[in-house]
Amino acid sequence: MPLDLDFVRSQFPALAGEWAFMDNAGGSQVLRRVADRVSDYLLTSSVQTGASYAPSRLSTQRVAQTREAFARFMNCDPGEIVEGPNTTILLRFLSEAMTGRLQPGDEIVLTNVDHEANIGPWLHHAARGVVIKWWRCDPETFELDLGDLRALMSERTKLVCVTHASNILGTINPIAEIADIVHAAGAELVVDAVAYAPHRAIDVKALGADYYVFSVYKVFGPHHAVMYGKRDRLEALDNIYHYFFDKSRVPHKIEPGNMNYECAWGSIGTVDYVEELGRREGAAKGAAQGDAEGRAAIEAGFAGIAEQERIVSARLMDFLLSRNSVRVIGRTSTAIEDRVSTLSFTVGKESSRGIVEAVDAAKVGIRFGDFYARRVVEEHGLMKQDGVVRVSMIHYNTVAEVDRLIAALEPAL
Ligand SMILES: Cc1ncc(COP(=O)(O)O)c(C=O)c1O
Repeated sequence: MPLDLDFVRSQFPALAGEWAFMDNAGGSQVLRRVADRVSDYLLTSSVQTGASYAPSRLSTQRVAQTREAFARFMNCDPGEIVEGPNTTILLRFLSEAMTGRLQPGDEIVLTNVDHEANIGPWLHHAARGVVIKWWRCDPETFELDLGDLRALMSERTKLVCVTHASNILGTINPIAEIADIVHAAGAELVVDAVAYAPHRAIDVKALGADYYVFSVYKVFGPHHAVMYGKRDRLEALDNIYHYFFDKSRVPHKIEPGNMNYECAWGSIGTVDYVEELGRREGAAKGAAQGDAEGRAAIEAGFAGIAEQERIVSARLMDFLLSRNSVRVIGRTSTAIEDRVSTLSFTVGKESSRGIVEAVDAAKVGIRFGDFYARRVVEEHGLMKQDGVVRVSMIHYNTVAEVDRLIAALEPAL
């Protein structure tokens, strides 16, 4: 049963225009209900949280509901949700809060396929004598090999930091298997899920990650970010807020300053939307409307999302594979378990900039560059052709839009 694209597209006012948006890994379009919630918060409950007067109590309750919504979204407890303005900042805060636990000689494993947001903050510890080890992808296939990770682990390994899906390759990494390897060595796992969260249901319990973070502006929402941290792990972190914050004040001790309340309240619209999609999917399959609630609705919603993304990915991948001049950067499989709908490629030795600019005229928004996953692009010699061409689709993209893109690409390939 295909996703109800008329319903889906009607939820995003920007899609009524003439552009096809295929730079979603940079940031997705925003749901009307998200914009309405942001506006509603600002116009009806914009007072400081934490006081005893009624408007402040309302504001406090609203902000607290964000943690409840994202706890459902990720399958954890509300007290395990940390919020902040973006993923880069949350990972910096996390890194700072680990300072007390990382001693000279301890080891951190980083990958060369990650976005710099999950690399730079950890490199700071090298200045204090922490040893950085690199888990590099295969130079031909761009795959991260689990055997290589096992070989890097030692009794001094304290952390492994890896992306769930690459924002360039689209590859989905096997986080549950990685977590087993990491935990067997007594280390912790930090997962950047920014490029994964718009595409698949998240279950942090099943994945076994210790920290798991993504940005809501890539998941149909406003500029806000959320991080799951296992409760006992959060409790063990340093306090990076004011001195009078006790170490047990989780998660506030690692949320310095006031968060953006209107974006927190607006972000709930993302969870609400996926749940509604899930209920509609359930109803279309014969279950009574409203049957699926909470987790079940989220999983059903993402099952519909994943299937639509597979369809558009397969259409584009088939075209790319049919052109001799094209090199797909990453996996060529479009199976739901193998990749998300972010596809990158190069064309011979040509500049990726030229390819993208030729497409601009067709009013299809795609992009070229390194997307701040610069290390993998640099190490594979792709900078000299202005990086890769990236087409990042999500479930609101249609086959007709892919065909428009293909028609615009054809003369250039
Ligand atoms: C995989 C990945 N991680 C991290 C980030 C950084 O996210 P933010 O802008 O929320 O800091 C991005 C942004 O593109 C990304 O694609």
